[in-house]
Amino acid sequence: MFETLPDPKLDGIIALMQAFADDPRMGKIDLGVGVYRDTSGRTPVMAAVKAAEARIVEEQESKSYLSLAGDAAFLETMRDLLLGDAVPSARVAAVGTPGGTSAVRQLCELIRLARPEATVWVSEQTWPNHVPLIRAARLDMRPYRYLDRDAGALDRAGMMADLEQVAAGDVVLLHGCCHNPTGVDLSLQDWAEIAALLERRGAVPFVDMAYQGFGEGLDADAGGLRHLAARVPEMLLSGSCSKNFGLYRERVGIAMAIVPEGERGRLAGTLAGLNRQVFAFPPDHGGRVVSTILGDPGLRVMWRQELDAMRERVAENRRGLADALREATGSDRFGFIAGQQGMFSLLPLEPAQIETLRAEHGIYMLGDGRVNMAGLNEASVPVLAQAMAGVLR
Ligand code: LMR
Repeated sequence: MFETLPDPKLDGIIALMQAFADDPRMGKIDLGVGVYRDTSGRTPVMAAVKAAEARIVEEQESKSYLSLAGDAAFLETMRDLLLGDAVPSARVAAVGTPGGTSAVRQLCELIRLARPEATVWVSEQTWPNHVPLIRAARLDMRPYRYLDRDAGALDRAGMMADLEQVAAGDVVLLHGCCHNPTGVDLSLQDWAEIAALLERRGAVPFVDMAYQGFGEGLDADAGGLRHLAARVPEMLLSGSCSKNFGLYRERVGIAMAIVPEGERGRLAGTLAGLNRQVFAFPPDHGGRVVSTILGDPGLRVMWRQELDAMRERVAENRRGLADALREATGSDRFGFIAGQQGMFSLLPLEPAQIETLRAEHGIYMLGDGRVNMAGLNEASVPVLAQAMAGVLR
């Protein structure tokens, strides 16, 4: 039967990970997959995570099943981390998921169950995996303009004009912070205007939050989505602990539906049922690490300090690269890199230039010019700047 299967197409991010691993050259530079790296290129286990894991190993008495929604303490502490006191807990239905990816997928399945005819609007540049996740749930999708490429900034007028086309019952996918791949974030004013527009059009926001803490800080990064949640009657929210807790391979995510109080039970049951169909019970270990850290004042401070340091290192790389490019190219056109947020920026390079960077300099970035700023360090910033100046000449 399998001869009917088409050849699989590897996701661009995963294909690049593989190509980088296969490259035998010393000094190759990985700016591909969105993983935090320290100055020596390692992705260490955070000290707060190590401490929480030690405590769990010591104290855990059973590994028997929990509920389909996962551990209650994880759901509660994550609700607070993401939503603060923007909405009463009686409005939030939440389930744990294996990573943020499956939170997005489960919420797409929820949309499909509730309103199969809904169109999901995505920013024109978005995380490459958003597209197949939405398609896998057999939902229609349309892009809205987002990036003004020349300015390396938000195409505010284009975005708002496109969102005016959204129909009642449609869903608009927004990045909570640290927009992937552009690094261009919405201001609080933008969030307020989008909230008003969606409310007026009767559309439902779906916020994907994968990098909380990597923009301006934990609370500042959630300011926009909290405003939205407090304002609109219904909202979907996916969260990931891969980056801000460094729990990439543990797969820790959360899917939430924020709804009027009377509907919470139905939504919680439906989300739990969706979990049952795919993986039944979400994995527990990573979620327990998160709730242990968030529930303990000492570990929480330790974790915040580590997260602050990661954010500052990425911001420093941004400033360093903007300066080095100014020097290497004699132009200010890359100044936008310093002002953007999170791990990613889109470098304005042609596919042939990106290929030359890979072939001749061992510099790996995605085919659209997305670079992971956390992959740089003091030594590789000038290498990238010089190589870019070379291909741009
Ligand atoms: C990325 O965008 O590189 C990360 O979110 C990793 C992934 O799963 O694609």
